[in-house]
Parts: sequence; C-alpha cells; structure tokens
Amino acid sequence: MRKGVMRPGHVQLRVLDMEEAVVHYRDRLGLIEVNRDSQNRAYFKGWTEIDSFSVVLREADEPGMDFMGFKVTTPDVLEERKQELIEYGCSVEVIPAGELDGCGERIRFDSPTGHYFELYAEKEQPGKWGISPKNPDAWPEELKGMRATRFDHCLLYGDDIDGTADLLQKVLGFQLSEQVVDQESGTRVAAFLTVSTKAHDIAFVRHPEKGKFHHASFWLDTWEDVLRAADLISMHDISLDIGPTRHGLTHGQTIYFFDPSGNRNEVFCGGDYTYPDHPVVTWDAEQIGKAIFYHDRVLNEAFLGVVT
Ligand SMILES: [Fe+2]
Repeated sequence: MRKGVMRPGHVQLRVLDMEEAVVHYRDRLGLIEVNRDSQNRAYFKGWTEIDSFSVVLREADEPGMDFMGFKVTTPDVLEERKQELIEYGCSVEVIPAGELDGCGERIRFDSPTGHYFELYAEKEQPGKWGISPKNPDAWPEELKGMRATRFDHCLLYGDDIDGTADLLQKVLGFQLSEQVVDQESGTRVAAFLTVSTKAHDIAFVRHPEKGKFHHASFWLDTWEDVLRAADLISMHDISLDIGPTRHGLTHGQTIYFFDPSGNRNEVFCGGDYTYPDHPVVTWDAEQIGKAIFYHDRVLNEAFLGVVT
C-alpha cells in the first residue's frame, strides 16, 4: 500500500576535498550546481528535477553518506509517517525548516542497517533547469559532461537488510521489487525496493558493517549516453569500477565509477518497471554474478568490497 512517499529527494554525501568534488559532480556528471550554504555545503540537481536540489556535498575527513531523503506528498502525510516511525521504534529527530537551504521540516530516523533516512514534504520548486515550463524545449544546450538528468536511487550496504526492508515496507509503503536469496539457507542477500513504478528507488546488500554506502545513481536517457559517459571517464582519468554493462537485477544498462573521494557513482538507463501487483523477482544467490553483471557473469572484487 502506498503511503504518500513519492520519491528519493536528496542524498548528502561526505567528500574529502570540496573543490575537487564540485568539479566532478558539476563538470563530469553534469549536475547543475545551485547553491553553497553557510556551512559550505554544495547543492546540486539534475536538470530535469523540479525541486531546488537533490545532491548535497559536505566536506569531511571520511567519505560516505550522511543521509538519504524522500519527499512525501503533504505536511499531513509527513506528520502521520512521523508518528508511525516513532510507534515502529525508530529514533526520530525533527530537523527544522531551512537547515538545508530551501527545504522544509525534515523527519530524520535511523534504521536496522544503521543508515539515516529523512522525510520531508516541502522544498523550493524552481522547476526544470534551463528550459521554460511553458512550451518547454527538449533539453537545455548548456549541459556539461554526462548530462545526468536526475538523482535516481542509492544502493546501501548493511547487516540487517531484512529489518530495514520491513521498516520501509510497513511504515513508508515501499514495495519489494527484486531480491537475491541464498536458496540453501533462505538468507536474503540483496533487497531492491520501490515507492514508484521504477525498478528500485533504494536497494540494500547484506554486509557485516552497518551504515555503508555503495553508490548514488543518476539517470541517463539512452545506452548511447552510457557509452558517452564511459568516454568521459577515460578522457578525465576518472577511476572506473565496471562497465558499460547490463545488470541482471532490474536489467538496467550501467557504468560505475568513483568520485575523487572514493564514493561510488552510477549512471544508467533502461531497465524494468514495477506495479503494485507485480510479484517479487527473485535471483538465486548462486547466480549472483549474472544477477549483478549480466554480460561478465562474475562479480569484480571492487564492486563487492569497496564501500564508503
Ligand atoms: Fe544502482
């Protein structure tokens, strides 16, 4: 059952060197740099996003993710979900409006995998960047780098992925779209969840440490755009993880690389869709190579082990 949670709305990432990071996210990924706040955090958005920002970078000593936020439909829904999160047993913190420039009140809560998530109902809405909302042209000509269109999802690593999946499903109305299950033990090793008709809005892989970040992903329109991203990765000697290739899980066409601080990024296109009546797609753990990298059919060590 949907519970008024609409979409991934923002992610705050820690970076080691702000100026290097800004060059990466603005000039290589092609996000739009929209703001720098009084804490020196840098704000970005994909050009098709109507809200004012979706990626926030904070300079710190260690890379990784501070939190990921989801936008809900109304302030009433925000209040209802807050009460349900408290009843579920989460520790809930209210972050006042304006702590992030242009964002309304945020409800931050912890999860069994040790990740912090937020809900919010209001954010300034300047509209898509570079095109008019009236008689809009197809795309703005000024885009840079990979021309990432929007922030799409995160993949997170942690121990109790069943616990976090249960929280997201019961309290926030997420739907389990795909999973990887070890058939012998019955252990779920990966869970893909959606609040929309996308194949996933967030995903988890079982991992002994809590609170780890695997990647933030951005949408491109075509396979040609993914190949063009691969060219840019070589042109600028960006650290490549794997790709271009296709996933078995979700069937997206993808490439993975690292920002200068070691946080993994993905750009991808295509893939499956999910409606509420769709059954859960299950991959066997013994097919994990093909599930993750459909062409190579083997996992690379970096993809499994390198998290921030
Ligand atoms: Fe992804």
